[in-house]
Amino acid sequence: RYAVVLAAGRGERLWPLTSTRPKPLLPLPGGETLLTRLLGQLRGLVDGVVVVVSPGWAGEATRRLLEERSFSVAYAVQPEPRGTGDAARVGVEALPRSVDEVLLVNGDLLVSRGLLEAVAEAGAPALAAVPSERPWEYGVVEADGRGCLRGLREKPMDAKPGSLVNTGVYLLPRQRLEELLAGLKPSPRGELEVTDAVAALAEEACVRVVSGDWLWMDVGRPWELIDAYRAVFEEKMRGRSEPLVEGEAEPGAVLRGPVYVAPGAVVRSHTVVEGPAWIEGEAGPLARLRPWSFLLEGSRAGAHTEIKASILMEGAKAPHFNYVGDSVLGEHVNLGAGTVTANLRFDHATVRMTLKGRRVDTGRKKLGAFLGGYAQTGINVSLLPGVRVGAYSWIYPGTVVARDVPDCSFLAPGLEGGLET
Ligand code: UTP
Repeated sequence: RYAVVLAAGRGERLWPLTSTRPKPLLPLPGGETLLTRLLGQLRGLVDGVVVVVSPGWAGEATRRLLEERSFSVAYAVQPEPRGTGDAARVGVEALPRSVDEVLLVNGDLLVSRGLLEAVAEAGAPALAAVPSERPWEYGVVEADGRGCLRGLREKPMDAKPGSLVNTGVYLLPRQRLEELLAGLKPSPRGELEVTDAVAALAEEACVRVVSGDWLWMDVGRPWELIDAYRAVFEEKMRGRSEPLVEGEAEPGAVLRGPVYVAPGAVVRSHTVVEGPAWIEGEAGPLARLRPWSFLLEGSRAGAHTEIKASILMEGAKAPHFNYVGDSVLGEHVNLGAGTVTANLRFDHATVRMTLKGRRVDTGRKKLGAFLGGYAQTGINVSLLPGVRVGAYSWIYPGTVVARDVPDCSFLAPGLEGGLET
C-alpha cells in the first residue's frame, strides 16, 4: 500500500501566502509544514508515498525540504493544475507496479493520525468522513444503512450542522481507480475531480464510509490557517495551563498561562505574554502578546508592539509601535513603525474578502490583514480588515490600504511627481 498526496494546486484562495510556496508547504508551529506533518503521520501506515507537485516546486529546494523528514518519498509532476482528479492520475501512474491499494490524501489537510489510521485499516474502498458544524462549505457524504457511500453533494445549502463531510482521504483499489481517473470529464467548474471517480466507484462497489470525530481541517482560506495553528497548539500543549520555557525569559518578562518559548527563542524584559502563545522568535523588550500569538523562527515583535491571534512567519518583523490583530505576516515581512492592522469594522459586520474573484463572507467579525512573504510597509501604514498585500510588495508611508495589493507592486497613492532618488 502506498499513499498519493496531492500538493500541486494553485492555492489561489490562500494568496498571497501561496505566492512564495505551495499551500502544503505553509509552515506550522514547531518547524513543520502541512505536508511534512502529513508525511510523518503516514509513517507506519503505508510502504511509501508519491507526492504530486507542480512544475515550479519540483525543484531541489522542495525535494530537500521533504527528504529531511520523511521516508521513501517519490515525486510526480502535474504539468498544469487541472484538478484533483488529474493530480491523482499523475500520482497513481507514478506508483510502483506492485502497489494495489492507494491511500489518497489532499496535501493541505491538518488531521489527527487516528483518521488516517482508520481509513488505512478499513480495507479498500473506503472514504473518511467527519461531522461538521458548517457542512454547507464542504462535500456532504450520504451513506446507506450498511455504511456504504450513496452520494456526495458539493456544498449543499440545506445541509444540517453535524452532517458528515468528505475529508479528502480515501483508500482505493489501484487498478479500478486508474481506469476511473482516465475516464474523467471536466466538472461544471471545469476541473477533473477525484470525487467524480469516487462517486462512480460507489455505483459498482461498497465504498465504506469511515466516520469519527477526528481533528480534520482543510486549510483552504486565509483565516483557516490561524485556526490550524490553534489546533496544532492544543495538540502540542495538551491541556497545559502553565508556561513552558525551553528558551529564555529575561528577568521582568511576564508569562501567563500556556505560553511556549522554544529553544533559542527569547522573551525580553518588560514584555507581557498572555497565553495561549507560541514563541520561536523574539518578543520585546516592552511588547505585549495577547492570546493566540504565534511567532515563528527569526520573527520579532519589538517595543510597544501588540500582537493578538496572529501569525508572524519565519523572519517576519513588527519591530516598533505596531498592532497586529487576527492577521498573518508572511515570511520576512517587515512593518514600518506605526503600521497597524484594523481587525474590526465600525458596524461590527462580518469581514468580507475576495477569493477567486468572488466576495466571500468570512463569518468573522474580527479579521485583520494578510501580507505575503517579503512585503514591506512604510511608517504609519493602516491596513483595513481583510485586506491582503501581495508578496514582495511595498506600501508607501502613511498609506491607508483598503483594497488588495497585487504581488510585486509598489502602492503609493497621491505620490505626485514621483519619488526623488
Ligand atoms: P484544493 O482545490 O483545495 O486546492 O485541492 P487548490 O486548488 O490548491 O486551492 P485553490 O482552490 O486554488 O485555492 C485540494 C488538494 O489537491 C491539490 C491541492 O494542492 C490541495 O492539496 N490539487 C488540486 C492538486 O494537486 N492539483 C490540482 O490540479 C488541484
